[in-house]
Amino acid sequence: MVDEEALSKHLSPERRKVTGAFFTPSGLVRQVLDLVAPFVPRAALSVVDPACGAGAFLVAAAERWPRAALFGAELDPTSARLARARVPGATIVEGNALTDPSLDERVGTPGFELWLGNPPYNGTSPLLKDRAAWDRVRRWLPLALPKHTSLREDYVFFLLRAARRLAGRKGALAFITSATLLDTFTYAPVRQQLLGQLSLREVVDLGVGAFTNTQVRTCVTVWTTAKGPARFAGVDFTPRAPEFALRPALASADALDADWRARGASVTELIPVSFPGLKTRFDELLVDDDAKRLLERVRAFCRCSPSELPAFARRFELAPALLPKLRALRGSFSSLAVSRSQVRRFVRYRGELPSGPPGFCYLERQLIPRGDHRLRGDYDPHAAEVKLVFNQLELPLWAQVLEGDQCITAYRHARFAPLSVPVALLADPACRTLDPRGPVAPNLSPLGLAWAKALGSPRAVFDHVAAHLRSEAFQTVWAPAFGRTRVPLVPLPDAIGSTRALQLPFAFDDSLALPQKTTAQRRPTT
Ligand SMILES: C[S@@+](CC[C@H](N)C(=O)[O-])C[C@H]1O[C@@H](n2cnc3c(N)ncnc32)[C@H](O)[C@@H]1O
Repeated sequence: MVDEEALSKHLSPERRKVTGAFFTPSGLVRQVLDLVAPFVPRAALSVVDPACGAGAFLVAAAERWPRAALFGAELDPTSARLARARVPGATIVEGNALTDPSLDERVGTPGFELWLGNPPYNGTSPLLKDRAAWDRVRRWLPLALPKHTSLREDYVFFLLRAARRLAGRKGALAFITSATLLDTFTYAPVRQQLLGQLSLREVVDLGVGAFTNTQVRTCVTVWTTAKGPARFAGVDFTPRAPEFALRPALASADALDADWRARGASVTELIPVSFPGLKTRFDELLVDDDAKRLLERVRAFCRCSPSELPAFARRFELAPALLPKLRALRGSFSSLAVSRSQVRRFVRYRGELPSGPPGFCYLERQLIPRGDHRLRGDYDPHAAEVKLVFNQLELPLWAQVLEGDQCITAYRHARFAPLSVPVALLADPACRTLDPRGPVAPNLSPLGLAWAKALGSPRAVFDHVAAHLRSEAFQTVWAPAFGRTRVPLVPLPDAIGSTRALQLPFAFDDSLALPQKTTAQRRPTT
């Protein structure tokens, strides 16, 4: 059996990452073919792998359907050559399958078209950096994306491209993709569109570890132009609005959601202002108890050449085991201006409570490359006017009270909400020009304020919300089903729920006023 992984040896690790070149083990290729085979007729067949790499899928397809016409496209010339050598009968086009129409022109034969493969997943491909090309493929999804998000993974475009190609034809599509396709909130419109164009037939969540040396969770989805039911782990299900998740929700999660929706509010209806958290992924370099030492270390790191890295690591007492990580990060940029203004307060969390004293973090997009993954505009942590930075285990819905009475995290990825926020931000959450000396107010909507009045303080509302988000029902039933796509729901006491109808004016009650602090005072200092 061929070791597919070994066929990528001609590619440097960086090149593999940029082009998403992680070839599929033959056992997994067989599994995908087994899943789609029941939908493939005996009639004339064309098999297309639009990102064919060294040809893993085309080799297997040639064995299973010997009379099929085989087509592939591949960006990397050496991989394309390898594929041609392994499947001599196949037509392999060298080029970008997302921007170059020649693949479609070559396939051109009538009959059943089967699109197979494992298109690249990463968010750093050349396509995403070429504005004009990106704009063109972005039009393949006419539906609006959730606010402040964008399409960041190439595989989405490959799916949209294949679905467009199959419109008006007879065919099927079986791709391995990142499992973000199944339920991430950003891709609800992608799922909605695909479900409108094709019938989803099989879904397999492969979990983490299907590919050597990667941490990505993957899945297989099989789609057909012929109508039919969707199946996940042998159970039929129907993807439903608003998230169109490609896996069934448990009945108990549905019941809880309906109950909390009927007698509750969403977290954002109660607590209007929240911010994304940030993971440094390299605390040894980017975090320190001492702001001066941190700045000195980051400066030295950005100045040194790759050959000077061992001396740099010794000077700053960084373990030799970190050298590969240092090399990779240093190799990702040529020069970088280091500035004091990028040093921010940092609070480390393990589970529910802060662990260790607060320190400082060097906040720089190039050094924390995935820190703002998927978060754009005002939700970009680098652009936000008011923020705390903390290292947070990536449990999307783990509620926490941070820095005493400062924050809870509640929403999707490590979002956090301060207990008090500048009034300007409450009036206009998109506000970008805050007066740092401006007054602060409880971070509560009129509904939240009504509840705070009943409980005696804004903090009591935060405590209730946090306790609810930490509850077993929330963490083990609701969150696994809806945590990636829905704003968390909070059940309200009857008397408070009924005030929703009153449409309270957006005014602050003196009895709830917080001690006057200014945002300038609360700002991180270096
Ligand atoms: C995850 S690998 C899969 C390769 C092969 N289908 C397999 O399963 O082993 C993705 C491949 O897509 C290629 N690729 C990336 N972007 C591409 C594009 N826009 N057009 C064509 N090929 C592309 C990469 O060079 C890489 O070989």
